[in-house]
Amino acid sequence: MPDKEPFFRGRRLRSTPGLRDMVRETRIGPQDLVQPYFVVENDPQARQEISSMPGQYQLGREALLRELEHPVGQGLRAIVLFGVPEHKDENASGASDPRGVIQDVARRVKEAYPELTLITDVCLCEYTSHGHCGLVQNGHVLNDATLERLADTALSQVQAGADVVAPSDMMDGRIAAIRRRLDSHGYVHTPILSYAVKYASAFYGPFREAAQSAPEFGDRRTYQMDPGNRREALREAEADIEEGADMLMVKPAQPYLDVLRTIRERFDYPLAAYQVSGEYSMLKAAERMGWLDGTQVALEALNGIKRAGADLILSYFTAELLPLL
Ligand code: PBG
Repeated sequence: MPDKEPFFRGRRLRSTPGLRDMVRETRIGPQDLVQPYFVVENDPQARQEISSMPGQYQLGREALLRELEHPVGQGLRAIVLFGVPEHKDENASGASDPRGVIQDVARRVKEAYPELTLITDVCLCEYTSHGHCGLVQNGHVLNDATLERLADTALSQVQAGADVVAPSDMMDGRIAAIRRRLDSHGYVHTPILSYAVKYASAFYGPFREAAQSAPEFGDRRTYQMDPGNRREALREAEADIEEGADMLMVKPAQPYLDVLRTIRERFDYPLAAYQVSGEYSMLKAAERMGWLDGTQVALEALNGIKRAGADLILSYFTAELLPLL
C-alpha cells in the first residue's frame, strides 16, 4: 500500500467531462425555469423590442401565441404574464376586468397550450394611473383598501384560466385576502406563489420601461423591503405561509442569494427566485460590448441562484437557454 497522499487531490474528479458530469451537484433543466412575457393590449400583432432588455418584446395577444410556439417545442414548461393595458385609472379597473388584457390572453394561451403552466402576476401598478402597486389617497398607498382590488384581480385571472397566481404588490394581508376569495369561488386548488420577499430594488428599472409601470411620484419603499434586511425576510415569509401561500419567492435573485439560502433552510416550501430585468440587462449589455460571453454568464448566474436554494427561477434567459439544457 502506498502512503496516503499528503494532500487532497480534488482534480481527480475534474479530469474528464464524464467524471465532472457524474459529480455535478447542481443542474438546471427546463422544469426549473419560468419565462416572463409582456403583453400589450392595443395591437394584437405588436412585437416591439424593449430597448433596455435586448431579446425581450412587448407582444400583442396574437404575437404572443406565435412567440410561444418555438420555446414550447423546446420544452418550455411555465410562463408568467404581465399586462400593459391601454387604459389606466386610479382604481386600476383594468387589472380585474374579465375582458382585460391578461384575462383575454390567459384564455387564448390555455386554449392553444393547455400543458403550459400559466402564472399571472397579481399587482395594480401596470393598471393605476399613478403607477403604484396599491390604491392611493392623499399621496399614501392604502393597504387594506387595496386588498379587495388584489383579490378581484386574482379571481378574474383564475376564472380566465391562470394555473397559479403570483401577488407581487407587497401589501400586508394580500395572501389571506386572495386565498379567501379564491376559496369562496370554488378555486380551492389554485396555488398562490407569493412574492413574499421582494426588495425595493433599482434592478427593476428596465421592467418599468417594459411594463410602463414606473410610479409617478415617490417610490415603493413604503411597501417593498429595505435591501439591508435579512431577518425581516423571515417574518415576511412566515406571515405569507400562515396566510396560505403555497410557494415563496425572493426577488431580485443574484444580489440576495444569502436571503434565498436563509429562506431555503428555514421553510420547507417550494422556493422561487426572480432574476429580474436589471440582472438580465446587465449581462446582455456586457455581452453586447463584447466584454462577457453572454450564454456562459447567464448559465453560471442561474446555477448560482439554484445552488443558493431556488427550486424555480423566473428568468428572461429561459427561452434562449432551453436548447442548451
Ligand atoms: C410589479 C412587478 C415588478 C416586477 C415584477 N412585478 C416591478 C416593480 O415592483 O416595480 C419587476 C420584475 C423585473 O424587474 O424583472 N409590481
